[in-house]
Amino acid sequence: MTDSLFTQPQLQDRYRKTTDPVLQLEKINVTFDSFCALTDLSLSIGVGELRCVIGPNGAGKTTLMDIITGKTRPDSGKLTYDQNIDLTGMSPVEISRAGIGRKFQKPTVFEALSVMENLEIAQKMDKSVWTSLRAKLNGEQRDRIDEVLQQLRLTEYRHHPSGLLSHGQKQFLEIGILLVQEPHLLLLDEPAAGLTDAETEYIAELFRALAGKHSLMVVEHDMGFVESIADYVTVLHQGQVLAEGSLRQVQANEQVINVYLGR
Ligand SMILES: Nc1ncnc2c1ncn2[C@@H]1O[C@H](COP(=O)(O)OP(=O)(O)O)[C@@H](O)[C@H]1O
Ligand SMILES: [Mg+2]
Repeated sequence: MTDSLFTQPQLQDRYRKTTDPVLQLEKINVTFDSFCALTDLSLSIGVGELRCVIGPNGAGKTTLMDIITGKTRPDSGKLTYDQNIDLTGMSPVEISRAGIGRKFQKPTVFEALSVMENLEIAQKMDKSVWTSLRAKLNGEQRDRIDEVLQQLRLTEYRHHPSGLLSHGQKQFLEIGILLVQEPHLLLLDEPAAGLTDAETEYIAELFRALAGKHSLMVVEHDMGFVESIADYVTVLHQGQVLAEGSLRQVQANEQVINVYLGR
């Protein structure tokens, strides 16, 4: 029964069949001391795809994001972005400039600065900090910030100090900080954590709207959230891919039920 997961003809692979991979991981190995955090991990994400990564605590989900963003170096394996960019030798800053943006679990906005100022700084981050602080925003950049403020429902709060925002609004701002940098690939680690039901629903809607224009990899525990956004799900367990497929398919997988979903 479990094997059938990979061979079913109706495999919902709609983005990957029609688009090139934006990211390919081949046989990635990561060890901490002698502990294997990722073992021969191979994974491919298509341009415009919205991929969910699920799995029990300690499965290696955050390590996977650390590898993609250059925070952690793999011991071996290949990481290819946009089909011909080798990420393995690149620094985190270079990887971010190449178009891979990451949202961490904890918000890291500049609390003393306004919502708008946080977005402005993020937008200019790919220039030098000095030009960034001096330069006036051009019209196009302003439009983009306005658009992102609207998308994140923060327009009314643009002049508020970010420290006064609610937890959910800070999380939204953090997503906005990513979006103004126009990343090709967004990595989001537990974006629904601590959000209200209404905020979670809105974020799901937003991610659906972003897919296609951006590629997204979302790590999330909230299965309701995963259900509402995912085209395709990768289940990690002990640093390996245990199963891949539509949520329905992985939920029916015996091994996934045993190690993660429970009976
Ligand atoms: N810097 C590190 N040093 C040592 N062990 C680590 C480090 N980072 C992660 N690990 C270990 O690797 C495993 C995978 O962790 P992680 O990627 O955070 O899992 P997940 O995000 O799926 O919960 C865990 O057992 C964790 O303790
Ligand atoms: Mg984690």
